[in-house]
Amino acid sequence: MAAADPPRGDGFGGGGFELDRSSLHPAVGDPVLGSMNFLNEVMSRFPQAVSFAPGAPFAGFFEGVSVNRYLDRYVRYLCEERGLTARQAQQLLLQYGATAGHINRLVADALRSDEGIDAPAEAVVVTVGCQEAMFVTLRALCARREDVLLVVDPCYAGIAGAARLLDVEIRTVPQGEGGFDLDELRRVHRAARAEGRNPRAFYVVPDFANPSGDRMGPQARRELLSLAEELDLLILEDNPYGFTADPDTALPTLKSMDERRRVVYLGTFAKVYVPGARVGFVVADQRVRDEDGRRHYLASDLTAIKSMITVNTSPISQAVVGGMILESGGTLAVVAREKGAFYRRNLAHLLDALERRFPPELRERAGLSWNSPQGGFFVVMTMPFETDEKLLEYSAREFGVLWTPMRHFYLGGSGGTHQLRLSCSYLVPEQIEDGVERLARLVETLI
Ligand SMILES: Cc1ncc(COP(=O)(O)O)c(C=O)c1O
Repeated sequence: MAAADPPRGDGFGGGGFELDRSSLHPAVGDPVLGSMNFLNEVMSRFPQAVSFAPGAPFAGFFEGVSVNRYLDRYVRYLCEERGLTARQAQQLLLQYGATAGHINRLVADALRSDEGIDAPAEAVVVTVGCQEAMFVTLRALCARREDVLLVVDPCYAGIAGAARLLDVEIRTVPQGEGGFDLDELRRVHRAARAEGRNPRAFYVVPDFANPSGDRMGPQARRELLSLAEELDLLILEDNPYGFTADPDTALPTLKSMDERRRVVYLGTFAKVYVPGARVGFVVADQRVRDEDGRRHYLASDLTAIKSMITVNTSPISQAVVGGMILESGGTLAVVAREKGAFYRRNLAHLLDALERRFPPELRERAGLSWNSPQGGFFVVMTMPFETDEKLLEYSAREFGVLWTPMRHFYLGGSGGTHQLRLSCSYLVPEQIEDGVERLARLVETLI
């Protein structure tokens, strides 16, 4: 059939080679991999709906963004502070580049001043979003069949999907009221060991996790680091939402408390700056000894893996992010403070609207509840009815409001059936108000 022919039958044309999905990698049919596309697809079908679904940054923040200005700023830095000629700077941006990245020093300096994370630039790999950072880290660490990854259930789909694609088995640490319990982590670790498996790393989002909104307290952070030492476990700390904490109650990252190099730190510029740049990073300052007894940072092995996935992170995208960091004075702190305040206001607005629209009497009668995180993008509601994809369709079509079914985030199989995640990052207060009103009308028809 010629390319211009209209499709026939099922829309894919007749005849020709056809593959059986069962012959592809089993991850392609896994609901975890489908979950992100599913939400995008529902949002595109109901563009008028108020959407509490995406964890995307507020689009209004893009108004002051000038890609050209950031590029110019970065090129000026290369020429004036790093001694490159204009031609060399142009090469750096337009040619294939060093696999580990070219903004590593800026990233390492910003982490030192903002987070107290003291790692050399050589221990940083700039990646295509945090997603690639997760992928290369898992690929490097989970080398043998018995290696397993521990995660809190529910957890971010990005890590679960990466593990699935890499055939890395996951063991889940169930989350109780107010977060996961270190005793549970110990128990899951012991059970895996008893099965002959090797728990290699524990993935955790200590600040306002996606999807639960949970935050680890200071004592739990200290205990987790000790436990990692005791159990000979690495921690993969993912920190996209820490910047939304109230500066008066901000807690140190695990990495900044990590005296034993137990923590691999996964980062992203998607939430503080722009997701469209697709720039993230990993700090991997663990020492690795090679066959000749020579030592290098784990970062260089991650770089070798990255070279076979994306070759290098777009040098142009890195330059845009580099320009953003330079424009904010080599620190993300000011931008993070401003945007963090915006997101906290949105969150407070969402919690307040829920409180007003679902007063205690109604909550009790209907048997519904929600948590009250102190930061981050997400609130989890527990409903007296099932919150599946069918209900989401109905909610979008009849009430014009979208949310995310929590079951998408549960790996244990049966969790989250009556829960939904509300994200407040993408909306303004009037939309939040309107969205909660629509949600309330949906609930009233169902209870
Ligand atoms: C827990 C978590 N990690 C990482 C990311 C961002 O990843 P990326 O930099 O690939 O956009 C997100 C975004 O939603 C997230 O929720």
